[in-house]
Amino acid sequence: MILLFFGPPGAGKGTQAGRIEKKYGLVQLSTGDMLRDHKKRGTDLGQKAASFMDNGKLVPDDVLVAMIKDRIQQDDCKGGFILDGFPRTQAQAEALDAMLSQGGLGIDAVIVLTVDENALVDRITGRYSCADCGAGYHEHFSPPKAEGICDQCGGHTFTRRADDTEEKVRTRLQEYHDKTAPLLPFYQGKGLIQTVDGMGPIEEVAVAIDTILAPFNVQGAKQGRAV
Ligand code: AP5
Repeated sequence: MILLFFGPPGAGKGTQAGRIEKKYGLVQLSTGDMLRDHKKRGTDLGQKAASFMDNGKLVPDDVLVAMIKDRIQQDDCKGGFILDGFPRTQAQAEALDAMLSQGGLGIDAVIVLTVDENALVDRITGRYSCADCGAGYHEHFSPPKAEGICDQCGGHTFTRRADDTEEKVRTRLQEYHDKTAPLLPFYQGKGLIQTVDGMGPIEEVAVAIDTILAPFNVQGAKQGRAV
């Protein structure tokens, strides 16, 4: 199965895509995580992306398209994958269609998470993660069970994303409205859109998504599919 998560910054794309990866075995392809990894390692791609990301702007299409094209050809994507944060422009959407159709594939569903804009800012500015294992937390909505200790690895050091300030979030939202939201009619026209209210608690949103996925028999998709 090829699943696409769509929604503004902070809508819960990463949270839900990560959950689906664990539950169904579909690989989560987060372009934000991939770019941050390149940035951390100081690759050419990371250096090219850094100034755009740090300013809340979209990274140029050619960088993203090449990165995703390379990634979906890897073996772990053969059983299906979840695109979390890609495509975000018309050019990326068209490039994705072309690369999938070359392999005889197509997107099965586009899950759109809708969230009130003020809630997005709260979610993003309260978000942090474990510096050792990357586990994600939120000051109010999902803090670690023991204060200052990572639930997953016991680490004591936490970090915040450079683009998670209120000013950068506003720029990211503007980028979303200008360049990404206009893609909705493109996928609507293909009959792929499934809208989920992302305002409820994480578990409620998860149930709504699982209900959408039920008819797809996603466990079966793990058995292998050529890309
Ligand atoms: P990226 O990392 O993709 O950031 P984003 O789209 O801004 O999305 P976020 O990760 O901020 O939010 P999310 O929707 O995943 O929410 P999350 O689950 O984390 O991209 C970063 C940058 O990389 C871009 O600005 C751009 O520069 C570049 N980039 C990436 N892809 C690109 C592309 N295709 N083209 C060009 N440039 C690209 O949740 C947020 C918080 O809310 C968490 O703390 C979570 O615990 C909490 N939360 C989640 N769900 C709920 C809920 N239901 N209730 C309460 N809290 C919740």
